[in-house]
Formats: sequence, C-alpha cells, structure tokens
Amino acid sequence: MRIGILTGGGDCPGLNAVIRGIVIRADKENYEIFGFADGWRGVLENKGEDLTKEKVKDIHREGGTILGTSRTNPFKEEKGLEKIKNTLKDREIDVLIAIGGDDTLGAANKLYKKGIKTIGVPKTIDNDLSCTDYTFGFDTAINIAVEAIDRLHTTAKSHHRVLVVEIMGRHAGWITLEAGVGGGAHIILIPEVPFDLDEVCQVLLERKKRGENYSIVAVAEGAKAAKGSKFLTQEVTKEEKTDSFGNIMLGGIARVLEKEISKRTGIEARSVVLGHLQRGGRPSAFDRFLATRFGIKAAEMVKEGKIGQMASLRGTEIISVPLEEAVGKTKSVPVSLYKETVEVLRGE
Ligand code: F6P
Repeated sequence: MRIGILTGGGDCPGLNAVIRGIVIRADKENYEIFGFADGWRGVLENKGEDLTKEKVKDIHREGGTILGTSRTNPFKEEKGLEKIKNTLKDREIDVLIAIGGDDTLGAANKLYKKGIKTIGVPKTIDNDLSCTDYTFGFDTAINIAVEAIDRLHTTAKSHHRVLVVEIMGRHAGWITLEAGVGGGAHIILIPEVPFDLDEVCQVLLERKKRGENYSIVAVAEGAKAAKGSKFLTQEVTKEEKTDSFGNIMLGGIARVLEKEISKRTGIEARSVVLGHLQRGGRPSAFDRFLATRFGIKAAEMVKEGKIGQMASLRGTEIISVPLEEAVGKTKSVPVSLYKETVEVLRGE
C-alpha cells in the first residue's frame, strides 16, 4: 500500500504533527508514504519526497508544514484531473490523504467523486469546518490572540486609549469570540452578528464616564455593520481579486474602526492587526495531541477502507464522517453563544 499526503491552504500549527502521526501509524502496517510538495500543486506537478519515520522524527513540535503548502485549486488548472491521475499512477499511490480546510477538502471530495481514493483531515485556525467539534490550529491561534490582547491592556491603560485588535477567521468569528472573551476585550465584533457603531461608541463613552480609562475592541477581519447602518455594511478587503478558490482577501477593519471611534468619541484610538502571527510558530499542547490523533486515525482509515471520509473530533472521540457532509458549509458561531457570552460581558 502506498499513501500520498498533501497539506493545502493556509499553514496551521499542528500540520507536522498530523504528518508524523500518519507516518508512524502507517509504518506499523508497512505502508509506504509519499509527501507531495505545496498542496495540490505538488500533485499536479508530480513533486515531493518519500516520508520515513526518520524524516518525521520530532516534527510534531514545529509549526508550519515540512511539505509546504499553496492555495492551488486543481479544478482551476488546465487538465488538472488528468494530471492528478497521471501523478498518482506514476507514483503508484493507492490513497491520497489531504490535510486542509474547506477548500482543500472540497477538492478532495470532488476527486473522490471522480473515482480517486481520498481521505481528509480537518485543518484551519478558523475552526469553521463543519462536522468536527474542533480543527487543529485553532487552539494555538486563540492562545496567541489572548496573549496579544493581554499585552494590549497594559499599553492601552497607560495611554488611556481605545485599542482595536483585528483577528483572523474570514467569515467565522470563532477566534475573535474565544480570544476576545479570554483576553477580556470590552467589545467583541464578529461576522455572524453585524454591529451598530453608535452602540459601540456608546459603550466606550459609558466606560470612560464611569472611570474606566481605556478599552479594548476585538474585531474579526470579516465583521461588518448591520444593514441599514450608514457605515461599513461591507466587509473591509485588502484587494478586490480573489484566490483560486474564490476567497476574497480580508483586512483593514481595525484601522477603519480606529479612525471612526476616535472621530465619534473623541477618545484617542490605535489599531493592531495580528495577521499571520496567529498561524506561525509552535502548536499548543492541545493541538499537538489533536493533530497527532487525527494523523493516526487517517492512517487507520486507509487500513479500514474508509475512503471519501474525513477524520473528525466528536466530544473526546475521533471518528470518521463523509467528506461530502463536512465541506461546502461554514461552521459559524451560533448567535445564541454570542448573546450568552459577549452580550453579557460587553463593556465590563
Ligand atoms: O483560513 C485561514 C486564514 O488564516 C484566514 O483566517 C485568513 O483570512 C486567511 O487564511 C489569510 O490567508 P493568506 O495566508 O492567504 O493571507
């Protein structure tokens, strides 16, 4: 049995732990592993390397991915399907394990429907993939964001400022919600609950009135104002063009809010964008364990013939679910969860 592995989409702490988990578990069955370089691009271009236990020794402690990654969409490449079939034939790959988020696993599912044996492992710091309680990478990202918010408290307090911190997560507010609550942000704005800037400014002014001389606003990069508002009803984007999966590049909302808050309240404001810091560096203990379990499970799924399926966390169990059920629908923050946490804590 020969297994191919690829890591696709944005990199994410824990990718190396998955790779190591697959290789170590597969080795017990004497399966051979080939790692494709740079996501789907490596499969299209037939590039990569054999992976052995020696090659993956201790890599679970490191961030990034030893295989490299890209946002290449195989279905947007000329003769993409044909090239993939040729590569898999040439490398004598029986099963391809794709480690990625919705885009990468969506492509794996399409390939499965076209007769290619694929298995998925759910990855994204955004935690927005359906059919799994958590994706690996999310825990590391929220811990980085919490630490950043902790640090912003002292500088904001010293200068009596409003500090607006922009947090990743595209159209899902999981990182902003959990890091915002954990870090004690006074205002938390997420895409799932469009905001009213007048209300935001009112909370900031009330805090000032009662002697709280600074505030932290945690805003998700994809947050926007409620319909009917005269301000920011569209997501703030860095560029108009999209990537090969149709994703728009978000970014800039913190700067917009910084200016507007300062104009409307008269309070000095500053903004900071956490950006790719949230994806870099070593995975947390939680992510190392989860990612290792996902890797081991993926190798077992090969053995059990669970093709067209994805490893998934349900409670404390790692199970497998059909890729078809997991892809194509964003797992959003339920509005009820926002109300019972953020709305209770607002301004406190
Ligand atoms: O999907 C993960 C993610 O980090 C998002 O939170 C963010 O919007 C996007 O990737 C950034 O992508 P890139 O690394 O291509 O700039």
